[in-house]
Amino acid sequence: MAVDLLLGLQWGDEGKGKIVDVLTSKYDIVARFQGGPNAGHTLIFDGQKHVLHTVPSGIFHSNVMNVVGNGVVIDPVILQKELTNLEKFSIDFASRMVISRKAHIILPTHRLLDAASEASKGKAKIGSTLKGIGPTYMDKTGRNGLRVGDLELENWKERYQKLVKKHLKMISFYDVDIQFNLEELETEFFEAVEKLREVPFVDSEIFLNEALQNGKSILAEGAQGSLLDVDFGTYPFVTSSNTTAAGACTGLGIAPNRIGEVLGIFKAYTTRVGSGPFPTELFDDYGKEMARIGHEFGATTGRPRRCGWLDLVALKYAVQVNGATQLMMMKGDVLSGFDKIEVCTSYKYRGEEISHFPYNVEEENVTPVYTEFPAWKEDLTAMTDESKFPKELTDYIKFVENFVGVPIKIVSVGPDRKQTIFR
Ligand code: GDP
Ligand code: IMO
Ligand code: MG
Repeated sequence: MAVDLLLGLQWGDEGKGKIVDVLTSKYDIVARFQGGPNAGHTLIFDGQKHVLHTVPSGIFHSNVMNVVGNGVVIDPVILQKELTNLEKFSIDFASRMVISRKAHIILPTHRLLDAASEASKGKAKIGSTLKGIGPTYMDKTGRNGLRVGDLELENWKERYQKLVKKHLKMISFYDVDIQFNLEELETEFFEAVEKLREVPFVDSEIFLNEALQNGKSILAEGAQGSLLDVDFGTYPFVTSSNTTAAGACTGLGIAPNRIGEVLGIFKAYTTRVGSGPFPTELFDDYGKEMARIGHEFGATTGRPRRCGWLDLVALKYAVQVNGATQLMMMKGDVLSGFDKIEVCTSYKYRGEEISHFPYNVEEENVTPVYTEFPAWKEDLTAMTDESKFPKELTDYIKFVENFVGVPIKIVSVGPDRKQTIFR
């Protein structure tokens, strides 16, 4: 059995949560491999909306095991809220979910450090979700972190205190005014750690490899998107983990030769939340309409998402880095009735036309070159099969497939689980 990957190909929020939920019934296990509660994955079914931050998006299916892998960073405080929410829907999470002992824990002071680091950057800030992601991964690679498995040790609070002491010194190093009440934060944190203990801890790399040996199928759920990858994204305006395919191997303990299909997901246009370069960003009515019709607000922070046309140069780069074997196009319904659609097919880079994603995609270097398409007029949201697609949509799909060289296997025409068309 192989492990299939589901990865965002843009700057996140492509619709990963929805598609994982749609595909879950085909798998025995859904596993998150990186990121943390900076993610916000939205699932809509039976008239109900759920937003997941840490919990894998297979949790609503009773016969599926959900694994939070070693590459994930966990904030017990946020997880507690998620788990309490699941209880309201009578989801017995303790029987459907396990957490890797090797996953790192986000402490309250990691969040404070995130805030201090961002404040110290002024205008150059990353636009972080301020969930403590960067500082937690820094402690991981710096070999100082606290892991879930440590909670099983008697002296874990001593380790915690040692780390907090270091963090407090670091916060004062940043010359910024960060207000906090550590006692309150710690009370909340220690209470949440007890909730975390309700989820079984496992050696997830062994758990997953044994599952594979026993013929179980696994879907690895990515968080963020390829252009937020710490190596391949628009650095430094990225997150602190490898969001691309290789991250699934290190984040789960799965060998590369176990990877099967790589499912890449993208919107029919582009969005980005937070700072950083975005060559096809629109500041006109087209961008405003995308934001309005597509309800483009961050699922974690509620911040408005920046919107722009589809960038095929960036998409092709993401397909290449991930080795995507199938694509999923989301939110085509949002563009219905536009008087035109544009797609970026190359960049003018320092005066020269280029077709690759360059080292430096800052605005002053890159001007997108567009190909224009007529938009589809029909409402797509009630469509259930491809034969009803307007010609303009079919042409758009074909153009993207030809450009990046990978077939589009799913077209999503609305946020609901049911609004999903397989091709
Ligand atoms: P994720 O982080 O990749 O899981 O994506 P988010 O949940 O942050 O953002 C995607 C948003 O688009 C959510 O509000 C979804 O409910 C919504 N969505 C997903 N697919 C579609 C679609 O095909 N059409 C429309 N209109 N909305 C969609
Ligand atoms: P999902 O999984 C969109 C962005 C932040 C910021 C940068 C760094 O829902 O697609 P961080 O909190 O990691 O320090 O933020 O990355 N970012 C996301 N943008 N979707 C996400 O996750 C994101 N997670 C982080 O806005 O620009
Ligand atoms: Mg999201």
